[in-house]
Amino acid sequence: MGSLSGRRIVLGVTGSIAAYKSAHLVRELVKAGAAVRVVMTPGAKEFITPLTLGTLSGHPVHSELTDDRDAGTWTDHVELGLWGDAVLVAPVTAHTMAGMVEGRGDNLLLTVLLSAKCPVVIAPAMDRDMFTHPATSDNLKTLRNRGVHVIDPDTGELASGLSGKGRMAEPERIRKELTAWFKSQAPLMGYHALITSGPTFEPIDAVRFIGNRSSGQQGAAIALELARRGMTVDFISGPSSIPTDHPGVRRVDVGTALEMKAAAESALRLTPPDAIIGTAAVADVRPAHPIEGKAQKSDLPASLDFVANPDILASLNAAAPGACFKVGFALAHGDGKEAALRKLTEKGCDMVVLNSITDKGAGFGHTTNRVDFVHGPQRIDSFELKTKEAVATDLAEVVQKQLLQRTPTSNSPED
Ligand SMILES: Cc1cc2nc3c(=O)[nH]c(=O)nc-3n(C[C@H](O)[C@H](O)[C@H](O)COP(=O)(O)O)c2cc1C
Repeated sequence: MGSLSGRRIVLGVTGSIAAYKSAHLVRELVKAGAAVRVVMTPGAKEFITPLTLGTLSGHPVHSELTDDRDAGTWTDHVELGLWGDAVLVAPVTAHTMAGMVEGRGDNLLLTVLLSAKCPVVIAPAMDRDMFTHPATSDNLKTLRNRGVHVIDPDTGELASGLSGKGRMAEPERIRKELTAWFKSQAPLMGYHALITSGPTFEPIDAVRFIGNRSSGQQGAAIALELARRGMTVDFISGPSSIPTDHPGVRRVDVGTALEMKAAAESALRLTPPDAIIGTAAVADVRPAHPIEGKAQKSDLPASLDFVANPDILASLNAAAPGACFKVGFALAHGDGKEAALRKLTEKGCDMVVLNSITDKGAGFGHTTNRVDFVHGPQRIDSFELKTKEAVATDLAEVVQKQLLQRTPTSNSPED
């Protein structure tokens, strides 16, 4: 796996003499596993041809807002901006930086930068006097304040014959800084989580079921937070309409506990997880004799026999790699600390997240939750009532700390 494996990079190239280094940069990025789409300013084409960058990136290069005037087609700058995990502009000229600061959209690259939702990284390249000009310094400061990451230019001999700061960083340094920057943005890149979420519906017949009031909100918030930190998440969801749209979330929708178990076990076999988070409210029992088709009212039995459902979390934990960090959820009525501590050992968890339906605003159906992180009898961390997203952040912090401090396993990502 390359250090930029799976990363999608929109590479903007502008009209600097350093544009010749872009060929080398594309190769560096592609070799490190990134998918690269090149966008050139019209000025950049004076210095290097689209054919060179298109060949090296393996994709057509975009440089014009309109593709074919007669056909009325255009390059979709919004789509390009959304596709990338980052837009890297290397080299970036003084002119393009000024356009970024002013929010101009008079070429394709500037419109991509205006519509991009992903982070932006720039590698300035220019003559020493252009670089030290107050206009350039101010523009760089503004861009930094807006969250743009700047890869500082080198000091040395410049194309103008002058010597000083302004030479674009070498492609290898750009690749290394980009990798380190991605890592800081997504510290759990390369790690895997397996999450079960939502309720399960256990059929009485084809239309009736035994279920519970779990909405799947907490599990979805955790999946999204871990994916934002770079994890690939296998998300096994019982019936829930809460979306989990993120490229890092691989979602499988199931209905019953048995389906959830099968889907989770298959995900675990395919990708041994670094963390298991069992948020699902799995029905403890299911009707022993579900009726095929829709039963008539008169055919419904007066009472139902139940059989116990398997304990999904316990069996996943038992099958998981030893270094995997295992988290269970416990929903209590009243103070459930004793039950949570029991669950910790009975299910082989490293931590149990305890929430209680008797806490106002906590548990099923609310957008907020109040939880305790139960690590053991000596360590129970209590939190105040907060949004389920904020609870997900607290939990992700614990997962992150655990994974980054553990002894690396063969399954762990490379540096
Ligand atoms: C030979 C030559 C080299 C240039 N090198 C640079 C450069 O390194 N950095 C820069 O900011 N501008 C440089 N320029 C000026 C830019 O090409 C000019 O500002 C252009 O409008 C940039 O357009 P763009 O940012 O849309 O690509 C150079 C111009 C020429 C003719």
